[in-house]
Amino acid sequence: MISLKEDKEKKYIEELKKKILRLKKIRNAVIIVHNYQRDEIQDIADISGDSLALSQAAVRTDAKVIAFCGVHFMAESASILNPDKTVLLPVIEAGCPMADMITPEKLYAKKLEYPDAAVVCYVNSSAEIKAESDICCTSSNAIEIVKSLKNKRIIFVPDRNLARYVQSQIPEKEIIPWNGFCPTHIRLQEEEVTLAKRLYPEAEFIAHPECQPDVLSLADHICSTGGMFTYVKKSLKKEFIIGTESGMLYKLKKENPQKRFYLPTAHLICPSMKLTTLGWVAHALEYMINEIKVSDEIRKKAKRSLDKMLEISGEKKWMAVSGY
Ligand code: 13P
Ligand code: SF4
Repeated sequence: MISLKEDKEKKYIEELKKKILRLKKIRNAVIIVHNYQRDEIQDIADISGDSLALSQAAVRTDAKVIAFCGVHFMAESASILNPDKTVLLPVIEAGCPMADMITPEKLYAKKLEYPDAAVVCYVNSSAEIKAESDICCTSSNAIEIVKSLKNKRIIFVPDRNLARYVQSQIPEKEIIPWNGFCPTHIRLQEEEVTLAKRLYPEAEFIAHPECQPDVLSLADHICSTGGMFTYVKKSLKKEFIIGTESGMLYKLKKENPQKRFYLPTAHLICPSMKLTTLGWVAHALEYMINEIKVSDEIRKKAKRSLDKMLEISGEKKWMAVSGY
């Protein structure tokens, strides 16, 4: 039986959803949602997916306003690619700690140390870092991007785990990893995966490349969040252990009701991703606050890195790999 408190909460959520719908029309806005967001935020998404697929989707929309439910670098990428649109980040404090593990000054010093190296930056980085890089990449196209470069040496920033994964796939190159990491993904321990595998012997283990190398060595498949949806849909298996942020399970279960999904640990929660609530989305749209803007000088340079990536991956192919 549903309690009075639960009933009140349900009504409050429905009212907020209606309010957001109304504001969306008034503002001519689109709501773009990353796969790690809360379930109720997934429910109000016009578009949901992984980081850059969302920015690409934003380019195609006719909407004037983009309410970006994700973290700062994602909204910033949307703004870099769509300078004429108003991009709002409902909670301005929603940053990615990994993106903050590098500064332009430190990157500049590293470039001086390795003058022959190309700089590849993971999309989880600031506009300033993108502006200082030769090309961007995401977790779904990192291997393709690195392979496309003539340079034998690559400075790969800021995720050391993605860098190491790329190195394992491209031994002919020398990857110089930055020492950044995702504080959420590194919480997943090898022993937890081994235990989950023992508990669910029929399950496939799918991991995000931000996980640590010992965890990745246990994976049946390594891919981006978008790639996980595509993989699960195609797989003949019925059970999956998911090695990435817990928000993924909502849509995975919804899209694959006949399949089962398990998290190997309760610790796979990104606090920044969970900051966005329905209340904050409504607030941002009502008062048009928290607009993400990048200075023209940085924006143009950062866009070059993003555009180069898209040229190599191709938008159509990009959509397919990201499972969008
Ligand atoms: P995806 O691009 O795979 O969605 O990853 C984004 C992210 O922040 C992973 O931690
Ligand atoms: Fe950043 Fe990790 Fe959160 Fe992704 S999951 S936004 S990489 S802290």
